[in-house]
Amino acid sequence: MRECSWLFRTLLLNVSGLLKNDVLWSGILSDKVLPVNSSDTVLACAPALNKTLCGIQRKGPFSENECFKNIAKDLVDYEAIISSYIKLQNLRSPAEEVPPLNRTLQIIHNLLKSCNFTWTEKASVEENAMWGKSSFDNRQKMLMIMRAFHIRTITFNRAVGYIASGEHKNTPSPF
Ligand SMILES: *[C@@H]1O[C@H](CO)[C@@H](O)[C@H](O)[C@H]1NC(C)=O
Ligand SMILES: *[C@@H]1O[C@H](CO)[C@@H](O)[C@H](O)[C@H]1NC(C)=O
Ligand SMILES: *[C@@H]1O[C@H](CO)[C@@H](O)[C@H](O)[C@H]1NC(C)=O
Ligand SMILES: *[C@@H]1O[C@H](CO)[C@@H](O)[C@H](O)[C@H]1NC(C)=O
Repeated sequence: MRECSWLFRTLLLNVSGLLKNDVLWSGILSDKVLPVNSSDTVLACAPALNKTLCGIQRKGPFSENECFKNIAKDLVDYEAIISSYIKLQNLRSPAEEVPPLNRTLQIIHNLLKSCNFTWTEKASVEENAMWGKSSFDNRQKMLMIMRAFHIRTITFNRAVGYIASGEHKNTPSPF
């Protein structure tokens, strides 16, 4: 499970790097964030965020399973979105855009493989319906989604850190 925690950190570093990619987002000025609204990760993993996110209070005890189920759901959804994006015919510069995004996809695949996620369902987003004819608009949308994914990835890492600390059950965790 150390592998899994390491992969979450790798994902965070990777996505942080992607946001600074000059090619992927060249010319885009918007600083909006577009969340993918399908999971309850923030709530399900809330105790881990206790110290930093005010106001989020769970009912009932923290469930590692519930938290992980939501993380997996997020990963599956973002994977679907990124996969559909790199297959678009009208990418501005596929040779430069696909490899960095594909790298992110590989990390997500590894996470889905290495961590014992119980979530096995398909993506719940209409990923293909997200994209239009304008390559600029698509890039802008992908950037907004990537920002939301970045925030989510920070949440994942906090949740994993919290679980690894064993604080929620007073026993050492396998992480
Ligand atoms: C993940 O699942 C495998 C196979 O069931 C098990 O051997 C391993 O201990 C599990 N790891 C964790 C961290 O739960
Ligand atoms: C999330 O939901 C809002 C409101 O329903 C919607 O406008 C937005 O496009 C959704 N985000 C994504 C990535 O689908
Ligand atoms: C959550 O906040 C409460 C109240 O501030 C505190 O007593 C508790 O230890 C915190 N839990 C964690 C996991 O930080
Ligand atoms: C993504 O990377 C994998 C593994 O390196 C490779 O097999 C695959 O062809 C790549 N896909 C694209 C679309 O570049």
